[in-house]
Amino acid sequence: MDLALLGGQPVRKSKWIDWPVWNKEAEGSMMELLRSGNWFRGDGNKCVEFEQAYADLIGAKRVLATASGTTSLIIALHTLGVDAGDEVIVSPFTFIATYNVVFNQKALPVFADTDPETFTINPHKIEEKINERTTAILPVHICGLPADMNRILAIGKKHNLPVIEDACQAWLAEYDGKMCGTLGDLGCFSFQNSKHIPSGEGGALVGSNEALMDRCVSYHNCGRPYGSSMKGMGDYAVRGSNKRMTEVQAGLLLSQIGRARKDADKRLENALYLDSRFKDIPGIVPYKLADGATRSAYHLYPFRYKKEYFDGLPRHKFMAALQAEGIPCGMGYGKQYFDGLIEEAITSKGYQRLFSKERLDRYREELHNLPDNDLLTEEALWFYQNMLLAEKEDMDDIVNAVLKIHENRSKLL
Ligand SMILES: Cc1ncc(COP(=O)(O)O)c(C=O)c1O
Repeated sequence: MDLALLGGQPVRKSKWIDWPVWNKEAEGSMMELLRSGNWFRGDGNKCVEFEQAYADLIGAKRVLATASGTTSLIIALHTLGVDAGDEVIVSPFTFIATYNVVFNQKALPVFADTDPETFTINPHKIEEKINERTTAILPVHICGLPADMNRILAIGKKHNLPVIEDACQAWLAEYDGKMCGTLGDLGCFSFQNSKHIPSGEGGALVGSNEALMDRCVSYHNCGRPYGSSMKGMGDYAVRGSNKRMTEVQAGLLLSQIGRARKDADKRLENALYLDSRFKDIPGIVPYKLADGATRSAYHLYPFRYKKEYFDGLPRHKFMAALQAEGIPCGMGYGKQYFDGLIEEAITSKGYQRLFSKERLDRYREELHNLPDNDLLTEEALWFYQNMLLAEKEDMDDIVNAVLKIHENRSKLL
């Protein structure tokens, strides 16, 4: 059979499930909310209801609904004391928001290399990055894959550093039987439209320390004291910002949350099936769970493409061939630390004031010492979460397309 990229018939012609999925049953309550004009959380109860529903879903003690995952991370960093001139240890293989939030605090994101098998931060590379300015550790459960939390939490404890989980892709992922986002000092989630519980934009902050969570609520509500109303004048003892979720976002989230558990189980079933099929295909190396991780959320199904098993066929050509066969596939994150944003930040007036020339020169050099992450950025590919909501036959389409390309690889060279 000819490859679709070369004019042949594609393995798959049918569509994948569209995302997000509108919930018709929620039309009545959504219209009621829209007609009421109570779109601000100070005038309604949808945000509070969602906070409770999300706490129940992931077994969290406290949940604060926020405007986005990014704002959750900013609240967490601020409240845990990450200040101008500090350093935060971050995973380099992540969506750019994880870097941006650290820069937002006028701190330096210091990258610890990635474990290419698990796609998450390599815990053995963290301690060498700690210095007197380090203020927090920010692991990312990327693609929904839990980071090695036992080791990371032990390092945090040893050095008296808080651990903030970027769980923005990891709803219902489990580590050691506990939900990701509930293991560290604070956990941050995103409900942006591509996410498993979507509301266009949205986020949540999760924690179990009451005093810390009270401070998060206060910061996100313009610095009004915890327990005061969402509007009117406060008694502004601390700085704050407005990072509140709207009632409309919370209404959408309540209309979506009911499907989260069932969807998660379906993704798991299909991902395990793909694991079992890819095991026998040389050059396709699926993710591995980190030590102690019990379950991924499968926001993405990541794997490494080893071109040497495809006679050197470059990754972008393999990806194009797969897409032509009707199988959507994305490239993982690139070497974003060379995109320009870091240079722009560290040459800015503020950073030049906050850090010594020696530190910034060394920081710039260290960006060239992330060999495992560099390799991963050249090999990673992924399938999308909506594909994992399909049936076993649809997973066979994915595998058959990969096998077809492998068989016909010489024609693409
Ligand atoms: C790993 C990670 N961190 C942070 C964010 C930021 O979340 P948001 O887009 O809701 O601001 C995202 C969102 O895509 C993400 O994937």
